[in-house]
Amino acid sequence: MSARMVGIKGIGSYVPPKILTNADLEKIVDTSDEWVFTRTGIRERHIADPDVATSDISFEAAKIALASAHLAPEDIELIIVATVTPDMFFPATACILQDKLGAKCPGFDLSAGCSGFIYALSVGAQFVANRTYDNVLVVGAEVLSKITDWQDRSTCVLFGDGASAVVLGPVERGGFKSFVLGADGSGGKLLEIPAGGSRLPASCETVSQRLHYIKMNGREVFKFAVKIMGETALEAIEKAGLHPSDIDLFIPHQANIRIIESAAERLNLPMDKVFINLDRYGNTSSASVGIALNEALLLGKIKEGSKIVMVGFGAGLTWGACVLEW
Ligand code: UT7
Repeated sequence: MSARMVGIKGIGSYVPPKILTNADLEKIVDTSDEWVFTRTGIRERHIADPDVATSDISFEAAKIALASAHLAPEDIELIIVATVTPDMFFPATACILQDKLGAKCPGFDLSAGCSGFIYALSVGAQFVANRTYDNVLVVGAEVLSKITDWQDRSTCVLFGDGASAVVLGPVERGGFKSFVLGADGSGGKLLEIPAGGSRLPASCETVSQRLHYIKMNGREVFKFAVKIMGETALEAIEKAGLHPSDIDLFIPHQANIRIIESAAERLNLPMDKVFINLDRYGNTSSASVGIALNEALLLGKIKEGSKIVMVGFGAGLTWGACVLEW
């Protein structure tokens, strides 16, 4: 049985309404709007209320994606949630979301740091390509504010909360042309939450030492990201049989404007072909590429036949890219 072409049948995104600006951060830690904006390109981010978890914002994004695909929850045959901020260790956030949606299908979470959305797209696409399912819901969602150390200025200025969702299904034309995934576990220590798992379970000490929050060696992750983002995007473009000049829109993981600019330079892409919205959302990890894709569509930057390259990198260390023809 031949493989089918897979594309995006519906898309949605959601961010919590509350906005935290760089000026607000100046009141929390020793930082400045000038430092944050010039070093990262971020001006503000959205922050979930204390009682809001990842499944809640996933639900909002998924409802929009289902409506845009003209599907009901019972049409969904698989749910994959890419996240590093699940509601809890278990049950999986995908199962919590399934219940909220009223869907009747299998579901699981996928942890690949900020590459999570690309990883989840590649996994979901297999089920459609090999004819197992016709409608797969892929969600990338994070409530990073809950694992952010609001006393650590080197990380707390970077992250934001948000969710994105797509429905994957078979398409007649276009669809995904290539996927490239990668990982280098030797770099795991560069970006981690040290405690709370089976290595270092929660204790009074781990809490008092603030080990349940994101720890990052920003400089080293920056070096890795600058190298990998351009390289991986190029690999995905070549695997799709294309040249960078064929790409209409580059949708990178929204972590740092300087990383994005260096990747665009590597691909020789003018910045008007690069989609950027990190100024308004910060780094939303697994959610960022999907939120950007949805916004680019709403802004009319994607037309039928547009060739898009999406690329992510993050904790693991992991990376991933794909080429999609709309
Ligand atoms: O999603 C994937 C995960 N993460 C990333 O993509 C992040 C990758 N890394 C980065 O984006 C950058 O490394 C950062 C934005 C995190 C930091 O920028 P940088 O240019 O690498 O700064 P730095 O860490 O080298 O720090 C420069 C200075 C330091 O002071 P000294 O040692 O030069 O006196 C820091 O203490 O800036 C200081 N600094 C701050 N100052 C004001 C660090 N954070 C802040 C802050 N406000 N928020």
